[in-house]
Amino acid sequence: MCGIVGYVGKRDSKDILIEGLKKLEYRGYDSAGVAVFTQNGLEVRKTKGRLAVLESALDEKPLHGSIGIGHTRWATHGKPSDVNSHPHTDNALKFSVVHNGIIENYMTLKDELIAGGANFVSETDTEVIAHLIASVYEGDIVKAVQKAVSRMRGAFALGVLTEYEPEKLVAVRLASPLIIGVGEGENFIGSDIPAILEHTRNVYILNDGEMALLTKDGVELMTIEGNFISRELFHVDWDITTAEKAGFDHFMLKEIHEQPKAYRDTMGARLNDEGTAVQLPELKLTAEQIKGISRIHIVACGTAYHAGLVGKNMIEQLARIPVETDVASEYRYRSPIITKDTLVIVVSQSGETADTLAALREAKRNGAHVLAITNVVGSSVAREADSVIVTWAGPEIAVASTKAYTSQLIAFSLFSLFLAQTLGTQTTEAITETITAMKQLPEQVESILARGDEIKAYAEEIAKHKDLFFIGRGVDYAVALEGSLKLKEISYIHSEAYPAGELKHGTLALIEEGVPVIALAVQEDLFEKTVSNVKEVKARGAHVLGLGQEGHEELPKAVDQVFSIPRTVSLLTPALSVVPLQLLAYYASLALGHDVDKPRNLAKSVTVE
Ligand code: F6R
Repeated sequence: MCGIVGYVGKRDSKDILIEGLKKLEYRGYDSAGVAVFTQNGLEVRKTKGRLAVLESALDEKPLHGSIGIGHTRWATHGKPSDVNSHPHTDNALKFSVVHNGIIENYMTLKDELIAGGANFVSETDTEVIAHLIASVYEGDIVKAVQKAVSRMRGAFALGVLTEYEPEKLVAVRLASPLIIGVGEGENFIGSDIPAILEHTRNVYILNDGEMALLTKDGVELMTIEGNFISRELFHVDWDITTAEKAGFDHFMLKEIHEQPKAYRDTMGARLNDEGTAVQLPELKLTAEQIKGISRIHIVACGTAYHAGLVGKNMIEQLARIPVETDVASEYRYRSPIITKDTLVIVVSQSGETADTLAALREAKRNGAHVLAITNVVGSSVAREADSVIVTWAGPEIAVASTKAYTSQLIAFSLFSLFLAQTLGTQTTEAITETITAMKQLPEQVESILARGDEIKAYAEEIAKHKDLFFIGRGVDYAVALEGSLKLKEISYIHSEAYPAGELKHGTLALIEEGVPVIALAVQEDLFEKTVSNVKEVKARGAHVLGLGQEGHEELPKAVDQVFSIPRTVSLLTPALSVVPLQLLAYYASLALGHDVDKPRNLAKSVTVE
């Protein structure tokens, strides 16, 4: 977790670092800090709290200098506090380090360094790095960092400065993302491209085990063993405004409204002109290999896992291949049965989630073909997978995932249709019918978004409650899980999602007068069964909002309030039914006065296990 930036050039670095950190706050925001070479040497300012707190501290005691590093933190080792904030330094204040990741063997290293005379002031693993580099330094910062890194185990991206060589900035990447921005007479480091995009569009994306030496005049890339590397610059062709709010009050609302575009972009050229077939040239699987797939594992975390639950349904229905869906942190430790004819699909918006990446590596070790569905080209997941389907949702900044989730649903529908057409499990007519329905989704989402006020009014009621329930059957249940997660995540209202038929096996005990229940009754074939379950909760006093499809006359009779989504084919309903639930979470959070885009305790990209 955490975000790092660095600058070496001719300009005053402070504002460049702060602006860069603002673009990275989605990676963590419990504290922040900068270290800058000033005329007094290496000086650090760091504070607990949001970046604004650091900015005030810098207004009171400014730092001026043209080389610096900065950090925005999501606490792992040590609670959020001024002293645990980054940058960390050695005791002589000659070395300064920002770090994203975890040093697994930091306790052993710490004991050694203490025995050698180091005095630790924080509870962090990162402080070890500053002391370690100081202890091995013999006049060459690159060599010292290489030596220190060879002793460290874990995941890290680092930015390192030393007062002894004040024109240099050293960057290292091992299992945590890091990019280098190349400017004219100035160079940058960042955990992600938006941090430096205002200054340059030319970047090097570091791979694991690589490092860079930056001065204002150039960048040298090398492995952490010291072998020089030459690499083409990557030109970023998307615009910074796509990563800004574009007139919406929050990134989350903007991203919810970007879903029609995200659907269109993700389908894009993957549908043939006639609308009768899916083309996925990015799949590195031959028709023969596809025919040889005996089972599929879908592995992901959080919202991406919920997309996987819908994906399982789509693949099983359309391609008739058995699918298991796992939470990534469980997958690798349950000794999954992976054979050469297993296809493992990892789903990750960021492409940097540590557990998902570990699952991907486990699958590859066992000889499976790994297909990644990710939103970030050049992410670790994208680079390590055998095949990649990119979801063209654009940068997602709000911590609560919305457009990335729905684009993952589109990617799953494309992939399932592709399997079906390769395996011959569906007729061309059936495939064409689904594709036609897919093409209508963007407009249908727009029509739901236009009714945001209805959801807002309901959300304001919900915000008065402490607990609520989502129920549904089949893919409605998978969407219920996502609706419940979204609500918990940003409104902090407790909610549970249940398969509608399961309530009477325990949970019904929690239903009492006035408890809100959101019943997803979208699936036509399961409608009557779900309505029976609605009656069970109504009989116990629940207030029920029914989420159904337009034209269903029975639903309004069974519930207290209805919200209907446009009609589509059964498998695609999640791409519509989740939208009102995203808006519900958004407006409930707003009504309660919470920080919608940056909910407490969470971060956008979870790069620790
Ligand atoms: C919730 C949310 C998280 C992520 C999860 C996986 O709104 O965003 O549950 O889905 O942390 O992240 P990625 O998709 O980046 O692997």
